[in-house]
Formats: sequence, structure tokens, C-alpha cells
Amino acid sequence: AAPLKDLASKKGIYIGAALGNGNLADAEFVKILKREFNHITPENSMKWEVTEPSPATFSFGLGDEIVEAALAQKAKLRGHTLVWHSQLAPWVNQATWTKANLTYAIERHIKAVAGYYNNVPLDHWDVVNEVISDSNGLPRDSVFLKTFGSVDAYVELAFRLAKKYAPKSKLYINDYNMEGEAIAKSDALYELTKRLLKKGVPIDGVGAQGHMLVGQVPSNITAVLEKFTKLGVDVAITELDIRATLPFTQDKLDQQGKDYEAVFRACLAVKRCKGITLWGITDKYSWIPGVFPTEGAALVWDENYQPKPAYDGIVRAL
Ligand code: XIL
Repeated sequence: AAPLKDLASKKGIYIGAALGNGNLADAEFVKILKREFNHITPENSMKWEVTEPSPATFSFGLGDEIVEAALAQKAKLRGHTLVWHSQLAPWVNQATWTKANLTYAIERHIKAVAGYYNNVPLDHWDVVNEVISDSNGLPRDSVFLKTFGSVDAYVELAFRLAKKYAPKSKLYINDYNMEGEAIAKSDALYELTKRLLKKGVPIDGVGAQGHMLVGQVPSNITAVLEKFTKLGVDVAITELDIRATLPFTQDKLDQQGKDYEAVFRACLAVKRCKGITLWGITDKYSWIPGVFPTEGAALVWDENYQPKPAYDGIVRAL
């Protein structure tokens, strides 16, 4: 088949992959990245713990490697991520902050990081990540929530600063398990986005991470994405992978193919769905087994770089 990026472009969407710095040493990986993808998200190297490991000390070397790789193949980038409770530098997480001091630290961080990448083709930023919790759509507990007292307050701050220092990027609010209907978390994210837009907060898009389970892809992704776009924002699927309990059987592989097809079709059915990023390329390096020990094989190429039925599923959709 033609490269996925050519098929995707014809349909008006981009297709991206998350890229870990270690992946760049693997020629086979880079070959597929170049052939198939036109968008790249740094898997870890623009996160706070990497970019500002101690106060006002910035480190862009790892991020630069990802940017170089993107430039080398004329891919655009998704910045990931400016304000997140996880992989946060310990000095931010551990301190007891006043609102004023944390505001200062957040501005210094966004100014440095978003400002640094302002002149590279980084067309999307995940400004905030995972601000809604899994329990009933309540705000995620974090140093940010504790210090500011409301999720609205620090999300508004982050977006206004991102607009100031990354004026060329589309600014996204990103989260997982919000792709289905009648999920408290999805509704809470929707209401938060709606409230902030009403206040003039510069949110351009909502990112659906898309970490899913084989055979359990929500049937109404299109409706959910559509509902968000009616607020006047774009949407994107930002971290797609579809995992299952190991070992994988042929049945699971086939179902996974249908699942990938369904997610791509859902995005294509929504006018303002800008693209889909896969959270990696090969099962060899997926983050899944490290976090969900009995699960894996969530990606489109297997550990030996053979395309799986998931690949054919994507081609069918495109
Ligand atoms: C994951 C990376 O893939 C891992 O390498 C890292 O150890 C932990 O983070 N949601 C996100 C991503 O927004 O940043 C996470 O990435 C996966 C879940």
C-alpha cells in the first residue's frame, strides 16, 4: 500500500507517532517513521522533569533530538506537555507553594519551553494533560489543584501563558478515557472546556489520548468528538494504542485490526478532527507492558517490525 501519511494527507488528516530518544538509534524504526508518518510527538523529552529538572535550569538536548528527527523528514510536531501532574520535576511537586510563587514558576517554565520551540514547526501543544480524574469527573488532585484551589484557575493560566509564548501553535487540552459517551470524565472535560471558552481562554483543541482496549473501543467516538467540536474547537486523537491481555491470539489481532479501523473512521467522520498520533510504532518499545504488566501488543507493527492486521485496518479506513 501507499505510505499511511500519503493516504492520510489525501483525507485531510495528519498521522503521527510518538518518538522516544532511544528509538532514534534503531534504523528499522526510523525507516518506518520516515516512510509512514508526517507528525511526531516526543514521548518524554518535553515533559517538565526533563526540560526543567531544577528551578530555572533548562535542558533542551533531548527535545532537540526529536525536533531534528522531525525536521529531517519534514514532519510537524506536537509539543507534549507543559502542565501535567505526572513526570513533573520533583521540586515542583514537593514544594509548598503560594499561588503567586507557583504562578511565577509556571510562567517561567512556559516562557522558556514554549518560547524555545516557537520557531520550529510545532503546530500543536498539549498545554495541559490529564486535569480531570478518573473518579466521577472530579478535578485531578495535584500540586496545581491544591495551590490554585480550582482546576479552572490553573488551566486558564496555562493557556493564557501558552498563547503568549507559543502564538503559532494550536493549544490543546488533552486527556484519556473521555472518548465514550456517558462517562463522567468526558462530561467534566466538556464542561470545563465550555466554561473556559466562555471566558475567552484561548483553547484551540481537545486531544483524546486514545489508550484503548481490544474489543472495547467505544462505539460513539464520532458523537463525542463531534460534541466537542460544536464548542468551536478542533479535536485530535493524540496517543492511540489498543492493548489486550497477553498472549495475543489471531482473534485478538483481527479484532485489533477492526478497532484501529473504527478509530480512524471515527476521526475521519468528524470535520474538525485534525489527525491521529499513535503512541509508538512497534510493540518492541511500547510503554504498555511497563505500566500494565499482563498487557501489551498495542501497536501497529509487531516486535519484529511486521505490520499487524491493525495496519490493514488503518489502510481500510483511509
Ligand atoms: C508515557 C511514556 O510512553 C513512557 O515512556 C513514560 O515512562 C510514561 O509516560 N499519557 C500520556 C503520555 O500523556 O505522556 C504517557 O507516556 C502515556 C499516558
